[in-house]
Amino acid sequence: MLIDGHNRVVNYLRVSVTERCNFRCQYCMPDKPFSWVPRENLLSFEELFLFIKAAMDEGITKVRITGGEPLLREDLDKFVAMIYNHNPDVDLALTTNGYLLKQVAAKLRKAGLKRLNISLDSLRPETAQRIAQKDVLKEVLAGIDAALKVGLKVKVNMVPLKGINDDEIVDILDYCKARNIEVRFIEYMENALASDQIKGLLGKEILEKVKEKYTIRKVGREGSSPSFSYLLEDGYKFGLIDPHKHDFCETCNRIRLTAEGHLIPCLYFDEAMSIKDAVKAGDVPAAVDVLRTVLRDKPKENRWSDAENETSSRAFYETGG
Ligand code: 5AD
Ligand code: SF4
Repeated sequence: MLIDGHNRVVNYLRVSVTERCNFRCQYCMPDKPFSWVPRENLLSFEELFLFIKAAMDEGITKVRITGGEPLLREDLDKFVAMIYNHNPDVDLALTTNGYLLKQVAAKLRKAGLKRLNISLDSLRPETAQRIAQKDVLKEVLAGIDAALKVGLKVKVNMVPLKGINDDEIVDILDYCKARNIEVRFIEYMENALASDQIKGLLGKEILEKVKEKYTIRKVGREGSSPSFSYLLEDGYKFGLIDPHKHDFCETCNRIRLTAEGHLIPCLYFDEAMSIKDAVKAGDVPAAVDVLRTVLRDKPKENRWSDAENETSSRAFYETGG
């Protein structure tokens, strides 16, 4: 079992397979980065898998593949199959912007993937384009349909932004409800690389919008989920991810690995340690040592609720949100 320096059990590893993305979301990567990590600096699937195996032996039971946009990495289904075939009991998931999903949904399902989260910030083509800086809506909706068709369990992520898509909170909820998929509203997390023209809604403001149409009931956090669940009267469940709330980090169970092998203990902070040399040398014990050190030093909480420090300097596209 993996336990961090604040006595939290860590059983969830998020693995970014690329920082590259085909969108330029205002809240993540509005401008193309000055430089990408050169391809030769990325860990291969075999190297990432070596670490994932070791981490599973140490107590990781849940693995999520993220980006950037993970579907930009060629043969991602082979990576899914490597993890799934090694341990079919692993809770394996993927987060994607959905743009390329239609083409690969069936292959991913066949490789062993069971569920994925897809970003959907608007149902209006112009607004989706304004946020992602690309005309994306049609492909994303087709991606969601394709995923459902092949039997993948889908959740939708929406980041409500003031004056941009906050009038669509109920519309997105209704879209998801009609398809019986869970939507999670995510508070915008201020970060130095995001556009300075945007402002997010706090959880309570998001809930106010939902309450304009529905009566809602609080359920609570399920296990270590970052998402707080709510129920509508008809039993439909949706979630709210509210990292600005003081108790958000109390149940944190996760750690992140970037595509170049940096282990990141907290999304907010820049601190990281590399496992790259260890896995390139095939030295699994050395990689596990790094993992233990990172966990020992994992911060107690983020600083988004702290007015003076509310902006993180970490790039979300390195850590996959
Ligand atoms: N604030 C909140 N959510 C973010 N995401 C990316 N950047 C941010 C941010 N600054 C979320 C997106 C996407 C997931 C990968 O991360 O909603 O669904
Ligand atoms: Fe790409 Fe996701 Fe960042 Fe948007 S939020 S730019 S889709 S990595």
